[in-house]
Amino acid sequence: MGDQAEKLREMMRKKNGDSRESQAGADFESRNRKSGPSGRGGGSGEKQPREGKKTRIVTITSGKGGVGKTNVSVNMALAYARMGKKVVVMDADLGLANVNVILNMIPKFNLYHVIRKQKTMREIMVDTEYGISIVAGASGFSKIANLSEEERQNFIDELDTLSNADIIIIDTSAGVSSNVLDFIAAADDAVIITTPEPTAITDAYGIIKIIATEIDNLNMGLKLVVNRARSVAEAKKVADRMTTIAGQFLNLKVEYLGFIYDDITVSHAVLRQKPFMVIDPGCKASQCVQHIVGRMERSDIKNVGGFGNMFKRIFSRSDF
Ligand SMILES: Nc1ncnc2c1ncn2[C@@H]1O[C@H](COP(=O)(O)OP(=O)(O)OP(=O)(O)O)[C@@H](O)[C@H]1O
Ligand SMILES: [Mg+2]
Repeated sequence: MGDQAEKLREMMRKKNGDSRESQAGADFESRNRKSGPSGRGGGSGEKQPREGKKTRIVTITSGKGGVGKTNVSVNMALAYARMGKKVVVMDADLGLANVNVILNMIPKFNLYHVIRKQKTMREIMVDTEYGISIVAGASGFSKIANLSEEERQNFIDELDTLSNADIIIIDTSAGVSSNVLDFIAAADDAVIITTPEPTAITDAYGIIKIIATEIDNLNMGLKLVVNRARSVAEAKKVADRMTTIAGQFLNLKVEYLGFIYDDITVSHAVLRQKPFMVIDPGCKASQCVQHIVGRMERSDIKNVGGFGNMFKRIFSRSDF
């Protein structure tokens, strides 16, 4: 994952000819600078009602690797399931098979097999003993672009199977591969995970900046979770810093969703290949996740059109 973070920094360097911004986190150090030129409303887009059944698509992402995306994805899914929601976790981080490891399951097939018409969505989706389902993503998502019209239609029809879900949580890899941006562009909410570590904060800010500049018509809710915090105050300090700077320099509204305590139960749970919400629903980390999901539920969805639009949004991305 270190190379992903390096890729992110490299992209930031390329993007910013301005030497003041030669590092992703440069803005942190130049707090007195006035707001950047971006006219983006930072979430000021009009809210419109969505039609039909709403499937909320939540992408979990980060700048730096290893900050807790997969744990957050799976345990948020569990918290939603306990509220009676139908949840699908999509593991978009195929290379490392993260979700599989945490749940001790190995799906044989992934979206690639659906694209290739070798399997149906129902066949690749794996139900777990925890009341959530998982779908392994396809690293070659962009292959959809090369499909014939008929194949593409078939794929969209298959994806429709997922529209029964109330929530689809997409666990991405760290950094800014175009795949990750595709998923983020398609989501209702992009949840950015950081830890209080300076490098994680810098890279989280970096990815927010990339999202702001790379995704047209940014219409999703950008949300921040501070993982592995040692106190409420520590998490709040990190969040205040990030939300203020995103507002000042990118004219972007980033909502602080909450924090998760650094909790030994998490690593114990990972070793036992079970979600920490299952190992100890009352532990500090579990309580924090429940709190975060509660906040998610209270925040509005900005996007219009629901699930079907997710892939239309992906298809319409110019670099696709
Ligand atoms: N709240 C926490 N308290 C204690 N340890 C944690 C916490 N969150 C994550 N960890 C530790 O960090 C490790 C990495 O977490 P996780 O695999 O969820 O990160 P990730 O962002 O998905 O990583 P990658 O970028 O490699 O996909 C876990 O195995 C666990 O040991
Ligand atoms: Mg992961």
